[in-house]
Amino acid sequence: MADETIEALLLEQRKFPPSEAFKSRAHVVGTHLYDEAAQDYEAFWARQADELVSWSRPWGTVCEWNLPFSKWFVGGQLNVAYNCLDRHVEAGRGGKVAIHWEGEPGDTRTITYAELLAEVERFSNALKDLGVGRGDRVNIYLPMIPEAVVAMLSCARIGAAHSVVFGGFSSQALADRINDASAKVLITADGGWRRGEVFPLKPQADEALASTPSIEHVVVVKRGGNTVDMKSGRDHWYHDLMANASAKCPAEPMDSEQLLFLLYTSGTTGKPKGIMHTTGGYLTHVTYTHKYVFDLHADTDVYWCTADVGWVTGHSYIVYGPLSNGATQVIYEGVPNHPGNDRLWSIVEKYKVTIFYTAPTAIRTFMKWGTQEPAKHDLSSLRVIGSVGEPINPEAWMWYHEHIGRGNCPIVDTWWQTETGGIMISPLPGATTTKPGSATFPLPGVGAEVVDENGKVVTKGGGYLTLTHPWPGMLRGIWGDPERYKETYWSRFPGRYFAGDGAKLDDDGYLWLLGRVDDVMNVSGHRISTTEVESALVSHPSVAEAAVVGANDATTGQAIIAYVTLRGGAQVNESDLRNHVAKEIGAIAKPKTIYFTPDLPKTRSGKIMRRLLRDVAEGRNLGDTTTLADASVVTELQQRAAQSSED
Ligand code: PRX
Repeated sequence: MADETIEALLLEQRKFPPSEAFKSRAHVVGTHLYDEAAQDYEAFWARQADELVSWSRPWGTVCEWNLPFSKWFVGGQLNVAYNCLDRHVEAGRGGKVAIHWEGEPGDTRTITYAELLAEVERFSNALKDLGVGRGDRVNIYLPMIPEAVVAMLSCARIGAAHSVVFGGFSSQALADRINDASAKVLITADGGWRRGEVFPLKPQADEALASTPSIEHVVVVKRGGNTVDMKSGRDHWYHDLMANASAKCPAEPMDSEQLLFLLYTSGTTGKPKGIMHTTGGYLTHVTYTHKYVFDLHADTDVYWCTADVGWVTGHSYIVYGPLSNGATQVIYEGVPNHPGNDRLWSIVEKYKVTIFYTAPTAIRTFMKWGTQEPAKHDLSSLRVIGSVGEPINPEAWMWYHEHIGRGNCPIVDTWWQTETGGIMISPLPGATTTKPGSATFPLPGVGAEVVDENGKVVTKGGGYLTLTHPWPGMLRGIWGDPERYKETYWSRFPGRYFAGDGAKLDDDGYLWLLGRVDDVMNVSGHRISTTEVESALVSHPSVAEAAVVGANDATTGQAIIAYVTLRGGAQVNESDLRNHVAKEIGAIAKPKTIYFTPDLPKTRSGKIMRRLLRDVAEGRNLGDTTTLADASVVTELQQRAAQSSED
């Protein structure tokens, strides 16, 4: 049924031009930005940096490009926290609401720009009192509470780089990231609210802290109210530090290329990569994209991005982009179905949200819950709605358009990555005619091309998505591993950044993203590497060997399917193994299904045949199996897979 709908839509080639009403007040209509950027992309970005960002010292060179290393706005100085806070207060907008925060239990906080600035100044001093300074790394492991924003901006204010770890990651994952970055301070909370209950964070952090020698101090925000152990001399309550810290902390100028943050993401090998983002270029990129992609009018819009600050979307489009633009936004702590399946829509109605940004996996979940949920609420305030994290299927796009956008909100399907820092491919809502399921075109200033496997440019049809020239928000490298940076992104197609995604160009030149072409799964919009989950499985004493594949899944995009061979005589049940993976990485990496098998299908040279396992997991007919060392292994796995889908 779903496939038929998609096909019908593709055949139909439905197109959605922006309405005249929308265009009449949009920042961009027509092609002038595209034309300007096509003339000279460096000059284009320089104009954005000049107009949208405040600098305490102007830059000399726009871009220094020594492939694959770029520097932007070289010689310039600025402070990101100043751009996100002080300049709005100085301009007389201190009383404007920065954050409408909604806790899951229903408690709320309204925080103006002046209040947020005061909190950040104080916490910056608290961090300094703990010995944090320019160039240090600070880990952040917090729920979706305003203190997460405060912590990030305070680091930026004093020149320390933050490394935020998603609160759903396990203590092991937290420890690995702290150690890779040699972080000095960890900022966490007692716990946070999720699905009507408090989930503990400090106890998880304590487990990690047993093996993180670089951490000198731990700051704990009180949120969950759960009992926690505080180690004297090392652990401090946030509210105590704040009570003792002084109120004024002027923003110091930072070099444009000062490290702003590390954010760890999965690659094709087991070890997560610390993606490095710096100051001036990153801020320019996210400020520009947040303003134009969402057509933000800071005076009147109420913006809401449902991501978690632990992911790049939270960094760029909850913290830095919106605050740099002086937007008013909603931040929500909890899950979308507490206390009811209409929680998000009740929040849209309550705060009169005008711009809403979420993920396809969430949209598919809303579809399952039914149209009556959004229909209970007045969503007429919405005017732009966005999608990020994975390809959005045309069917989900249409549902989003009809039931959330009520037929009159442009949809911006935004393609980008942790590595790109900000949005790269997306419609501009007042300028682009959209097609359901297509991310449309590269933004002005961005160069993207599809190439075939020999690197030849494809102008129609499928291939590999590459980026053709540097952009301000691009990653500056992988923390501690410049070789891996070159190898991962710049070696496959010489001179081009290879994103790891497949894409297709249609007759009209629209881009359609086709998902990952490497061993990275996309589960609910989150990147998880097959190797990482395999390593977690193999670290269990009963497991001899494991192979993990991503199989198509109607709700989560892909689901993690594991094939496991146990050590001789060992026994373990599926749920214990799933929990083991959760302990090693986090609940998001739990395999949906584990098949136990006496053997894995391998080539004669001993390579595991993942393609075959994917076919088995998705119930497809198998193609050529002649390269298999032992074909009977697959037959048995197929029988088991068929059986479990009947169960
Ligand atoms: O495969 C693409 C998919 O998500 C990957 C990047 O994941 P991450 O670094 O976790 O960042 C997610 C949020 C930016 C990409 O390589 N992806 C992201 N957005 C889209 C997408 N795939 C298709 N369409 C999108 N709009």
